Amino acid sequence: MSTSNHEKGTGHVDNHTVRESDSVEESDPVIEDVQAVVLVGGQGTRLRPLTLSAPKPMLPTAGLPFLTHLLSRIRAAGIRDVVLSTSYKAEVFSEYYGDGSKLGLNLRYVTEDEPLGTGGGIRNVLDDLTAGTIVVFNGDVLGGTDVRDVIETHREAGADVTIHLVRVSDPRAFGCVPTDDDGRVTAFLEKTQDPPTDQINAGTYVFTREIIETIPFGVPVSVEREVFPRLLAEGKHVHAHVDHAYWRDMGTPEDFVRGSADLVRGIAPSPALGDRHGESLVHEGAGVAPGALLIGGTVVGRGAEVGPRARLDGAVVFDGAVIEAGAVVERSIIGFGARIGPRALIRDTVVGDGADIGARCELLRGARVWPGIQIPDNGVRFSTDV
Ligand code: GDD
Ligand code: MG
Repeated sequence: MSTSNHEKGTGHVDNHTVRESDSVEESDPVIEDVQAVVLVGGQGTRLRPLTLSAPKPMLPTAGLPFLTHLLSRIRAAGIRDVVLSTSYKAEVFSEYYGDGSKLGLNLRYVTEDEPLGTGGGIRNVLDDLTAGTIVVFNGDVLGGTDVRDVIETHREAGADVTIHLVRVSDPRAFGCVPTDDDGRVTAFLEKTQDPPTDQINAGTYVFTREIIETIPFGVPVSVEREVFPRLLAEGKHVHAHVDHAYWRDMGTPEDFVRGSADLVRGIAPSPALGDRHGESLVHEGAGVAPGALLIGGTVVGRGAEVGPRARLDGAVVFDGAVIEAGAVVERSIIGFGARIGPRALIRDTVVGDGADIGARCELLRGARVWPGIQIPDNGVRFSTDV
């Protein structure tokens, strides 16, 4: 591990840098007859405007594209063969990961010309898979569950499909999945306003190959709204693997910021980061002025600059962004090459790539600034003082 040039006397608490050369140990175990599919074809609408330039799974999260954390967890579970089911901005994935060998994976890509949905996306990659057991991942889930445990539950139950479930305080934004005393799934209720249980679909499925063959080919199908309800109606054995490991869907700005900070602080595990944890993470080539304070799992990207007396708390600063002197950035994402002017206050906000926020502006509570937009000095305020 290398340390930042700016570590001494800057007010950083225990920060660290990260490099991308990390690869998985060759000696990791391999599970036979299991291959994986990662669904990464969504448009990431809720993370706009960041997802106008990059697909959601490729957004930098604790210094690496989010997907690297997931792929390294898949590899750590002993799965080598992975197919990315792509659609929106498909080329970004293959250009970055290539054949996957840096991660110890054999990585392939299947692209939908028109989005086929989650079920259609799974069916669409079947010809590229040979294994009898196929583990499917939503591409935006940060989790601590050992995938081998989910596969084991599936095999012990002799199930047709096993769904990983977690408990959340508000299930309405997810697939609600009630189970019986034997751990069998009894219903699948996608995004219901009236959830009968707090158990939700965590976005990892173990499929027996034959079940995927029953999904119609070449047409849009939702695994949540069509495939699971149909399998249950047909009396197929759909089993649950419930656990209490770390889990977060990274699909909204609030969750993205939390997940990134949790990775930096080691609250969320990632084999791609190992044990490099601290209050902040500063990339090589970033400049942090003396007197800047970086806390709360803040990450500062390559070539980014943080000025004197700036205070970053749970900030996600993408590469090349500039935070000027005395600015405050809390629980916000600052896009590639954006600039936050002196003494601006940015809280619970997404600032798009290349946007320019003038001095003393205040952006709060879910504000989203579109790429390249310029807000003049004092241009947006929530307070009346001058
Ligand atoms: N290939 C492909 N094609 N992938 C897709 C498509 C498509 O048309 N549409 C979405 N995806 C991918 C997304 O990229 C994402 O990785 C995954 O499918 C899930 O889509 P989201 O848009 O993130 O869904 P969600 O978060 O609203 O809900 C899903 O995830 C929850 C858990 O995180 C559902 O599976 C819920 O039931 C679940 O609780
Ligand atoms: Mg999601």
